[in-house]
Amino acid sequence: MNKGFFVTFEGGDGAGKSTQIHLLKEYLQEQGCDVLLTREPGGTQISEKIRGILLDPQNGEMEPQTELMLYAAARAQLVAEVIQPALQAGTIVICDRFLDSSLAYQAYGRNLGEAVLQVNQYAVRGCMPDVTIYLRVAPETGRQRIGTREQDRIESESEQFHRRVYEGYEALARIYPERIVTVDAAGTIEEIEQTIRAEVMNRIHAVSGGNRK
Ligand code: TYD
Repeated sequence: MNKGFFVTFEGGDGAGKSTQIHLLKEYLQEQGCDVLLTREPGGTQISEKIRGILLDPQNGEMEPQTELMLYAAARAQLVAEVIQPALQAGTIVICDRFLDSSLAYQAYGRNLGEAVLQVNQYAVRGCMPDVTIYLRVAPETGRQRIGTREQDRIESESEQFHRRVYEGYEALARIYPERIVTVDAAGTIEEIEQTIRAEVMNRIHAVSGGNRK
């Protein structure tokens, strides 16, 4: 059984995830918790190589099925090599994106349907987040925030694609209301930080029975 706690962050491109992830990590560390921060796709040597293939704008001809399985392959490696051992050691693991990204981007964005959940369940072998923070941002706003910086292969997808990803996250939040906490990314950085902190701390206390600070 895992002694640690697993938090994932999700949201469309430009939702402000990185800022909030770092704020939560700092806070948990100040509380004396052992925290490991990782990201997807990536987080291991093999998974970072797969990330390079996935995000390279030159790989425009990639088949949706190839994309789905590469994300899942990167995830399988990260779970086995990093996440599962850390959780077993009692660490709080924060992951920037996890399997819900595949459900939103590949199942909804690419219209790959049910296969996405099956492939990903196989990849993660039961290692599911204790809580998922979904930072909700309208696709138009997210794209404005990304601005004119160079875009990777997924970011440079069409408006319709990003709209489907958004609808996908909204659907996931309805399907998994116990696990996924929706936080409106329209608030101030401090407001969002406080909401996330309260949600995460409540759940950590609930699973640890108050053993943790
Ligand atoms: P990244 O630069 O990490 O994005 P962000 O800073 O927005 O988190 O790039 C990851 C991209 O890959 C992002 O556009 C979302 C996409 N993605 C998928 O399509 N499926 C997945 O399973 C994951 C993990 C990410």
